[in-house]
Amino acid sequence: MPSITRPPGPKGHFLLGVLREIREEDVKYATRMAREYGDIVFMRVVNIPTYLISHPRYIEEVLVTNYRNFIKAVYLRESRALFGEGLLTSDGEAWVRERRVGQRAFRHEHIDTYAQTIVRFAERKLNQWQEGETRDVHKEMMRLTLEIIARVLFGRELADELESAEAAISVYLDQFADRFGMYVVPEWVPTPGNLRYRRAMCQLDGIIYDAIREGRRSNGDERSLLSAFLHAQQHYGIEMTDLQLRDEMATLFFTGHETTGLALTWTLFLLGENPAAEARLIDELEAVLGDRQVTLADLRRLKYLDWVIKESLRLYPPAYGVVREALNDCEIGGYTVPKGATVAMFQWVVHRDPRFFENPDTFRPERWEDGLVDRLPKFAYFPFGGGPRNCIGKDFAQLEVALVLATIMRRFRFRTVKGHRTWPLPSLTLRPEYGMKMELLKSAAGSRESMPDSRELTVDS
Ligand code: HEM
Repeated sequence: MPSITRPPGPKGHFLLGVLREIREEDVKYATRMAREYGDIVFMRVVNIPTYLISHPRYIEEVLVTNYRNFIKAVYLRESRALFGEGLLTSDGEAWVRERRVGQRAFRHEHIDTYAQTIVRFAERKLNQWQEGETRDVHKEMMRLTLEIIARVLFGRELADELESAEAAISVYLDQFADRFGMYVVPEWVPTPGNLRYRRAMCQLDGIIYDAIREGRRSNGDERSLLSAFLHAQQHYGIEMTDLQLRDEMATLFFTGHETTGLALTWTLFLLGENPAAEARLIDELEAVLGDRQVTLADLRRLKYLDWVIKESLRLYPPAYGVVREALNDCEIGGYTVPKGATVAMFQWVVHRDPRFFENPDTFRPERWEDGLVDRLPKFAYFPFGGGPRNCIGKDFAQLEVALVLATIMRRFRFRTVKGHRTWPLPSLTLRPEYGMKMELLKSAAGSRESMPDSRELTVDS
């Protein structure tokens, strides 16, 4: 018999619940609550009853075993102006239909073309950089991944439009963070924030509709993701309206660059803080690639590169939490989670749990040697989510991050500028709040011998 008592948790303010604490402590609040109260914690965020779940077994129940009982939570549903009824936010029949078409779009047959595009765009970016200068690496990586996704999505470059698209997405993320927990004020109320947001979304719509019109007119570049959606009727008898196409394209445009841009940013930061790991990576690239550009076929041999990326996604998961809403009462960990409650599962918390990772706050790519992935309990490490709603772009993302990183690190190394504050700001994704100012140094193989090999810098948890 499931118990009807609530799991333990913080009392919170009578009106705001724990909203103030979340705003003050950001992601660290969830970690503190999980360590203090356990694997299932009850808290109220304004009027939203929330269950924080931090054990892999319970996470598997929500995302896999009992996934039909959960829909996307209010936090995402309230982002309709950007995502509409696209793959990330839709539920039920609509989601099943969209996932089938989406799956086809991510078939592997064009992967080599995508790999070449990624390396070409990364090389082009490096040609704009000079040794000794300081750049905001976050800005640079966002622009690069935006250029790449625009090409892969629409089959052409969106040169002038990218700046407006970037600005619109930043407005959306600010709005997401500002509105967090305050959904009692609907999106249509003309507050200054809502008006700014609506204007930004209109601008983004203009860019996306233009690209769709162009795709329809030219019958789409066969290898673009848009083309797979345009041909959905042919393959599945599903006719996509312009509005449906807009929602899918806006979803992929956002998800397809924001997360990979962040993965690259946080990885460059971690490497900059950890010269021994950086040197080992550069040596591996030198040994496998010599003077030539990286290709898809090389990735198999770049083992250390793979561990570096895994470790970075563990410590700084760009999608740092997965949130659902219960459709019916259900039982988790011996407690009844009532219909309508929100269930929050944070990669940020579980990935830093000492039960699963030794010295969890330390950046140590070597921990992935000897098949750690297979030894870990399922859902102790889940940067791409899991179950039927896992990340549809996972393979593409891993390909892109690995190829860009290999291309960059052959030519440059990075050091955080002295005095620059690095703080992960959780909005929909985990962005560095103050950007990522880093100095560019020349990459040089063979410098490893002079490095203190055991130097492992602890990152902030
Ligand atoms: C390092 C990069 C990435 C990370 C860490 C990441 C992470 C995630 C996670 C955790 C989810 C599950 C969300 C949930 O269950 O609520 C997800 C879903 C999704 N991702 Fe990614 N993602 C990445 C890259 C990408 C890329 C490159 C694309 C597209 C080109 C993409 C498209 C999507 C879409 C459309 C969904 C929703 C899938 C569905 O609900 O069926 N992601 N991603």
